Amino acid sequence: MSPTKEFVRIAALGDLHFNKTTQAGSLQPLFAQISESADVLVLCGDLTDYGLAEEARGLARELQSLKIPAVTVLGNHDFESGQQAEICRVVSDAGVTPLDGDTTEIQGVGFAGVKGFAGGFGRRALGPWGEDIIKKFVHEAVNEALKLETALARLRSEQIVAVLHYSPIQETVEGEPVEIFPWLGSSRLEEPLTRYQVSAVVHGHAHRGSPEGRTTTGIPVYNVAIQVLRASYPDQPAFRIIEVPREAIVAGSIEDRRARDRRATDREPPASRVADAPGA
Ligand SMILES: [Fe+2]
Ligand SMILES: [Fe+2]
Repeated sequence: MSPTKEFVRIAALGDLHFNKTTQAGSLQPLFAQISESADVLVLCGDLTDYGLAEEARGLARELQSLKIPAVTVLGNHDFESGQQAEICRVVSDAGVTPLDGDTTEIQGVGFAGVKGFAGGFGRRALGPWGEDIIKKFVHEAVNEALKLETALARLRSEQIVAVLHYSPIQETVEGEPVEIFPWLGSSRLEEPLTRYQVSAVVHGHAHRGSPEGRTTTGIPVYNVAIQVLRASYPDQPAFRIIEVPREAIVAGSIEDRRARDRRATDREPPASRVADAPGA
């Protein structure tokens, strides 16, 4: 399908957990449908089930039916076997750009991606206090948040989508057992999103979570784990479409450039500039 004039259509999904029992060819219709419905695909990690390069090679074969640019972050499952570097190589060769504190711009939309980490939400989040191992655990989440902030600071795009595996807010993990909330994400990831006023956030990991929520400043956050999409929208294709205004139609004027330069400090809330729908 040719790109629409006004919007860049971003298809998002996560947690494919490709493994040796996944039937060859079973995901090709999904990727073909995404290619028809969107301009960009965003994958939110847990590409593989056991973190095996062989699983990634299986996924790469499915991705042959994808005809649009794609970016991804890795998930915790992709780290299980210590083969995450090879997984990145395999998906990169298949045309999917891995983001780990990195950025890319596609059709004028900026993408910043990190895996993120656990630790919990709000006032009940784990703090860096006591044993060294607790401090290291908390520092891992802080480091992921810093990587995200560094990536966001580099982007000059008017429209920015943040790509995570772990959730930055509690709202989109609700539906999971409350006892495991702290393992599903970290509020430390929320602050950079707010500071840089991203247009939208997508994540996975919470398979039984809720499909959408908002940061404290109103930025839309979508849990696009395929299990959540299937459960929440059984009649829709198993991906979410997020539409953001195409920058080309606003770029060029001094006003717009000024607005872009203000982005990190006083951008208007982005909620009104994002349209979305499950599937398409
Ligand atoms: Fe997962
Ligand atoms: Fe996960």
